[in-house]
Amino acid sequence: MNTQNQTHFGFEQVGEDDKARRVADVFDSVVQRYDLMNDLMSGGLHRLWKAFTIGRSGVREGSRVLDVAGGSGDLSLAFARRVGKSGQVWLTDINNAMLTRGRDRLADKGFLLPVAQCDAEKLPFPDAYFDCVSLAFGLRNMTHKDQALAELFRVLRPGGRLLVLEFSCIWKPLAPIYDAYSFKIIPRVGELVTQDEASYRYLAESIRMHPDQETLQSMMEDAGFENVEYFNLTMGVVALHRGFKF
Ligand SMILES: C[S@@+](CC[C@H](N)C(=O)[O-])C[C@H]1O[C@@H](n2cnc3c(N)ncnc32)[C@H](O)[C@@H]1O
Repeated sequence: MNTQNQTHFGFEQVGEDDKARRVADVFDSVVQRYDLMNDLMSGGLHRLWKAFTIGRSGVREGSRVLDVAGGSGDLSLAFARRVGKSGQVWLTDINNAMLTRGRDRLADKGFLLPVAQCDAEKLPFPDAYFDCVSLAFGLRNMTHKDQALAELFRVLRPGGRLLVLEFSCIWKPLAPIYDAYSFKIIPRVGELVTQDEASYRYLAESIRMHPDQETLQSMMEDAGFENVEYFNLTMGVVALHRGFKF
């Protein structure tokens, strides 16, 4: 008998441990072509979404930043350029392959950042330490989103801010065309580029299972964040949620 608590992995019901293992398999499988696929799938738009996120971060020279589920390190790199030598940017991820890729990419660009392999639900950092915490395209994959949000809140200093960039609910009239693109084209491109159609089907399904803009806003408020607002990007394909700890 399966005694694990149940959750979802895309449209499938699975045990919580199975979900964590399958999410790990997804990123182990796609890591080598992860950045190329981001550019192909979004037509380069993910760069603009991330630039928008940096612009709302308030991060400046000397800031301490935690990039959670940072993967191949796009946000960490942009933050590192802002904080200068007197600041600190931690690149973290649960997945060793993604973290190694991120660390190596940053080193190639001349940034040797501290890295930590850790679960967002149990962060190995002290209370009230960071000025800014970012989480881009990671929350969707997490099993206990409330627990992760509570941890992000804990490690922020009073006055600090959380930025959650994630796929969201697209403007309704565009949903049919977006569905066709997500379920028919993206898995095929995934198959061609990474020989892994299933991971990109999971991507499309997990986006549909993720809380919409208003729900995520309430979840952040429940975790203790204040002045929570969101910005729809590209008609809600993606939303940036921002909240403060006071
Ligand atoms: C789609 S990638 C996003 C990477 C990067 N933030 C970006 O925007 O390109 C999602 C990342 O979330 C990580 N992840 C999934 N579950 C996690 C967890 N519970 N804690 C920390 N990282 C997690 C994965 O390993 C993966 O690297």
